[in-house]
Amino acid sequence: MHRRIIAPGALAAASLLLAIPASAASYSPGAPGIGDPYYPYYGNGGYDVSHYDLRLRYQPRTDELQGTATILARTTQDLSRFDLDFLLNVSEVRVNGAKAGFTHSQQHELVVTPKTPLAKGTPITVVVRYSGVPSAKSAYGFTTWHRTPDGAVAADEPEAAWWWFPSNDHPSDKATYDVSVAVPDGTQALSNGTLQSTDSRLGWTRYSWRQTKPQATYLATLAVGRFDITTGTSEGGVPVVNAYSRDLGDNDGAARASVERTGEIVDWLSGYFGPYPFASAGGYVPNTTTGYALETQTRVYYSPKQFAKGANASVVVHELAHQWYGDDVSVKDWKDIWLNEGFATYAQWLWSEHEGEGTAQELADYVYASHPADDPFWKVKPGDPGADNQFDDAVYDRGAAALQALRNTVGDKAFFRILKGWPKAHAYGNASVADFERYAEHVSGKPLAGLFDTWLFQPSKPAASAARAASPARAGAAVARPRSWQKIEAAHGGHGH
Ligand code: TRP
Ligand code: ZN
Repeated sequence: MHRRIIAPGALAAASLLLAIPASAASYSPGAPGIGDPYYPYYGNGGYDVSHYDLRLRYQPRTDELQGTATILARTTQDLSRFDLDFLLNVSEVRVNGAKAGFTHSQQHELVVTPKTPLAKGTPITVVVRYSGVPSAKSAYGFTTWHRTPDGAVAADEPEAAWWWFPSNDHPSDKATYDVSVAVPDGTQALSNGTLQSTDSRLGWTRYSWRQTKPQATYLATLAVGRFDITTGTSEGGVPVVNAYSRDLGDNDGAARASVERTGEIVDWLSGYFGPYPFASAGGYVPNTTTGYALETQTRVYYSPKQFAKGANASVVVHELAHQWYGDDVSVKDWKDIWLNEGFATYAQWLWSEHEGEGTAQELADYVYASHPADDPFWKVKPGDPGADNQFDDAVYDRGAAALQALRNTVGDKAFFRILKGWPKAHAYGNASVADFERYAEHVSGKPLAGLFDTWLFQPSKPAASAARAASPARAGAAVARPRSWQKIEAAHGGHGH
């Protein structure tokens, strides 16, 4: 401000003009999607989140959730407005302290217009005050917020956040979290990471959880209910916090006999994948009626249904393998889902071998033999399955068989170096299938384009020679179903909406 020729009266008008015109051309709205080819409205453009602070209150009786989200972010373009992904009712939005305009737009977009445009590369603080009944909100005709007799659970994939906090909902924008939830006394609230404090007053208890490592939005979880919480430390030194609904009925024993093995399994997986990447591990089993488990970061969500036929440590292996493959290293886009499910399934195959219930090769042979060439199973390309087939059996089983083919091609030494090196190479970040291909070629020193193309990108059954790769074939022999098969399959996901 070096020129002072403007009369005081004109100043207000001048600054009004200054707020927009000079560089107006460069300020534009952030995109309503981050650019995921499968889900054009997931995530948003124009900013990058570093931290979510959620201060919430939940009343299980009425399913009312209210709270304040404080989001720390940095703009990545000159922004005139930006979107958050969110469905609940918003009463106020502030950007850098100033009240901002906001409106709910199509899909699950909350459009925020700050009072003054935001220059590229500046830190911003967004405060959103909100309330609502999450189970009543259903974009696309579904809600991922599951009420239980004593509370509720937020856990789903590929989307879950819109029903409980505003976010940039895409795995490529990871952030740290503080989640603090007040619930009626006698009820517990669980989230990711480490419990920092509990605080009781006037009939409400507040649970404050902290996740200090970057976390994808779909891996953030909230569970409210009457839980029995167990704590411990693995032999290798990882703190473990598990929780069981007090109403698991006949499934209670089998649930505990599975999830209480978390510490042992984390240590066992560390032998293959390297040090456990987070400050805490564990899982919770609420009394939901949904059928799937989800690798919510550090605090895995398990459905009681998975333990209806007895204990299943294999499911625990699957979800804990995701802590490295999916949570520590997350997909760049949802089409990279093989990096999650193929590897978590392969970990189950290694566990099967460890338990003497079938080797990884026997499991690969069984996958190969049990699907004839005209089975639609082979139409699904694990390396790019399409949104409709993101959690198809093929992503898991053909995806794991692809890893067995890789193992047979590069040999055990290089294969296990790849498995352990990958999480380290992309720690707390994101990576694509193409990144993995390059990495495997780099570590093994072998050209692998043909192998990956055959196993991940062709809509057809690989030739028998490709299935066995370097290992000796048992051509024509009947392939028995390994004893571990059913427990392995119980970990498969898919939308139940
Ligand atoms: N990723 C989950 C797993 O393999 C499976 C899954 C896919 C899922 N979609 C889901 C779980 C939706 C719950 C809800 O463990
Ligand atoms: Zn999985």
